[in-house]
Amino acid sequence: IRWAVIIVAAGKGERAGGAGPKQFRMLAGRTVLARSVQALAAGCKGAPILCVIGEGDHAAYGAALGPDAERSPLLPPVPGGSTRQGSVLRGLQSLATARMRPSHVLVHDAARPFASPELITRVMDATLRTGAAIPGAPLADTVKRVGPNGLVRDTPPRTELRAIQTPQGFAFDSLLAAHEKAFASGRADLTDDAAVLEAAGLPVEIVDGDLENVKLTRPEDFSAAEARLSLALE
Ligand code: CTP
Ligand code: MG
Repeated sequence: IRWAVIIVAAGKGERAGGAGPKQFRMLAGRTVLARSVQALAAGCKGAPILCVIGEGDHAAYGAALGPDAERSPLLPPVPGGSTRQGSVLRGLQSLATARMRPSHVLVHDAARPFASPELITRVMDATLRTGAAIPGAPLADTVKRVGPNGLVRDTPPRTELRAIQTPQGFAFDSLLAAHEKAFASGRADLTDDAAVLEAAGLPVEIVDGDLENVKLTRPEDFSAAEARLSLALE
């Protein structure tokens, strides 16, 4: 078994506002990307970590990680695509030609700096059992599907729904094949990797997510995360 980690960090962070992509911003003294890399390095000891970054973001990447950018377990970053799905595919293709092709891969959002070692272990263990495992948390809100006319179409039962997080774990060859197939068929907008595998008809196991493993998406997510980190220091 040989694990590798892909951290997708090629987004523009449009919903978060602020100057520059959110993964390069400071969060209580360290950048979001440095926190995400550290979380995965701690949870997944020794596995190489590949960051996928925007075309013009090499300097921002180096500044966000400091001297660690050049050190193991980090591999040299590769450029991403115009969608998250495209960025993951670039990362997978790069690992496929690496000297040590992995047997299993974790795919993680740079925008999720709070993945705990316990969560990462849960995902890895389940991935080794089933070939694909993703963390999901129960929803607090009722979710409705809405039509283009702004009218409610239906209300899926909340007990059947989960809010899906990363890292998501997969057998490497099946994820790469599913991504190649989705891309060839013109899909480029799938928002997580499990959806790519589902489109290929493969089963995906859900493990317990962690409500603290939030994705920093909007400005309020940054202020809430800052507040939580400063409380944790007291
Ligand atoms: N991502 C990526 N390549 C893209 C788009 C997104 O690598 N073309 C990454 C982001 O950097 C982020 C993760 O996918 O770590 C989750 O995406 P999201 O939260 O949507 O981030 P952004 O796309 O950057 O934000 P927004 O949609 O608000 O612009
Ligand atoms: Mg996005």
